[in-house]
Amino acid sequence: MDFLELKNICKTFGRGENEVKALKDINIKIGKGELIAITGKSGCGKSTLLNIIGGLSLPSSGAYIFEGSKISSYNQNELASFRNRNIGFVVQSFALINDMTIFDNIALPLKYAGKKSFEINKRVKELTDKMELSDKTSFFPSQLSGGQCQRASIARALACNPRVFLADEPTGALDEQTGKNILNIFKSLNEGGMTVIIVTHDLEIASMCNRRIEMKDGTIFNDYNLK
Ligand SMILES: Nc1ncnc2c1ncn2[C@@H]1O[C@H](COP(=O)(O)OP(=O)(O)OP(=O)(O)O)[C@@H](O)[C@H]1O
Ligand SMILES: [Mg+2]
Repeated sequence: MDFLELKNICKTFGRGENEVKALKDINIKIGKGELIAITGKSGCGKSTLLNIIGGLSLPSSGAYIFEGSKISSYNQNELASFRNRNIGFVVQSFALINDMTIFDNIALPLKYAGKKSFEINKRVKELTDKMELSDKTSFFPSQLSGGQCQRASIARALACNPRVFLADEPTGALDEQTGKNILNIFKSLNEGGMTVIIVTHDLEIASMCNRRIEMKDGTIFNDYNLK
């Protein structure tokens, strides 16, 4: 059984003359512990694909199978629970909640998961230590640098020990050195056994991954192993 499989996935937005076929018959199998870059021009469907893998949106047709479960048949509640148990997601803009402290941002998924407050405190401490944010827990996102915000969003994404870590242009808003540090975090997560999928325009980042999936106009144009 494959860890994760997309079978004949199509995604269409809009209707009639506004219709956009964002994904056209996508077939991909992903194994446990892979480190994958998804590349391709703006508008080719990368975020749409990542959102389906992350259970944030459903395909228009086709099947998404995760460890034998058909995620594409899930309702919204089942999807939310699937995400909370299995998926860590970070985006270019960090998506932290501005009127919550760094502590509360990172604690949020643990609260959704129904953890007790002593467990939440312990886990947030572990994560902020690991992401070098222990002195920032009572700060708000606007008081942090871009790299610190991204580390906070990674900490939040890791809170519930996801099986799959998804990153959509995670270094796009960062300078080169800060971006490299963030990538090293992804690499070490992958070395710890986590499946990591990164959408990126940066070919240097892509070359660091073990597999590259190149998209073009809603299709898989190339899919090859680099190592
Ligand atoms: N919610 C939506 N409603 C309508 N069209 C959408 C929606 N989301 C995406 N699209 C369209 O689907 C296509 C693929 O978009 P997507 O965001 O997946 O591209 P992308 O490869 O991530 O691009 P970028 O590199 O600019 O982020 C685009 O033509 C886009 O306009
Ligand atoms: Mg995108």
